[in-house]
Amino acid sequence: MTAALIDGTAIAAKVKAQVAEGAKALFEKTGKRPGLATVLVGENTASQAYVKSKRKACADLGMESFGNELPKTATQEEVEGLVEKLNADPNVHGILVQLPLPDHLNEERVLNAVGIDKDVDGFHPVNIGRLSMKGRKPLFVPCTPAGCIVLLEEVGATFKGANAVVLGRSNIVGLPAAMLLLHRDCTVTICHSRTKDLPAVCREADILIAAVGRAEMVKRDWVKPGAFVIDVGINRVDDSTKKSGYRLVGDVDFDDVKEVAGAITPVPGGVGPMTIAMLMKNTLRAAEAALGVL
Ligand code: GUN
Repeated sequence: MTAALIDGTAIAAKVKAQVAEGAKALFEKTGKRPGLATVLVGENTASQAYVKSKRKACADLGMESFGNELPKTATQEEVEGLVEKLNADPNVHGILVQLPLPDHLNEERVLNAVGIDKDVDGFHPVNIGRLSMKGRKPLFVPCTPAGCIVLLEEVGATFKGANAVVLGRSNIVGLPAAMLLLHRDCTVTICHSRTKDLPAVCREADILIAAVGRAEMVKRDWVKPGAFVIDVGINRVDDSTKKSGYRLVGDVDFDDVKEVAGAITPVPGGVGPMTIAMLMKNTLRAAEAALGVL
């Protein structure tokens, strides 16, 4: 292995320790704890697990969480009504609507309903719009891409003038990640399923962020020697040696790419823990702003 391992678990622990301190200071000043409301619609197993981890992180850091679960048959009006109720609740400083929503629900309308000052996921169109414009500041930045940037900063990546390639153009990761890199003066290329000669485009990257959801797609010959490689993918692949029958792998073939990259995140233990840490950070900031201590 030539690449440095980017330890997301350790870096997330550092961010979370700062958040715990901030939450404590806020409580001492105001008698209030930061509060995160989670909204889970339906029974998607992965979503249930993510929400559980987010609520546990709140408890670990001295923050409140308020779990809200709706059946998969919930109507648009019921989901939006719940979000409105949470918008009006002074103990709720951040609202997280876990995605994906069941198909019959209009995601855009639900995300529109979240008050922008409680939009700790950074998915409201006003926050995404501000993120996408020069010189405008979103109130909150989506947690996974924000976490990718912190990882890169922590391992000393140079942004200015770097070629950054983002694999994937999702609203949750690819698009906001590209904007964050652009604001840091990277030359950014966003790749997707129609991109011609993907390996050749990726080979130009000083910073490569993979967020496509395709198990171990990125191989050694896609990576420029010395590049910073951030793997957002979490994919299940069959593995009969595991009790569960599967193991988790990223979008990057770790064992192959670690031989050429300068630094690389593992899966698990890379980007995943950072998403939660950044959500906690956003929730603390939302609480500080609401309670007038920013
Ligand atoms: N689904 C996958 N990632 C996320 C995330 O970061 N936030 C929410 N709310 N849903 C998700």
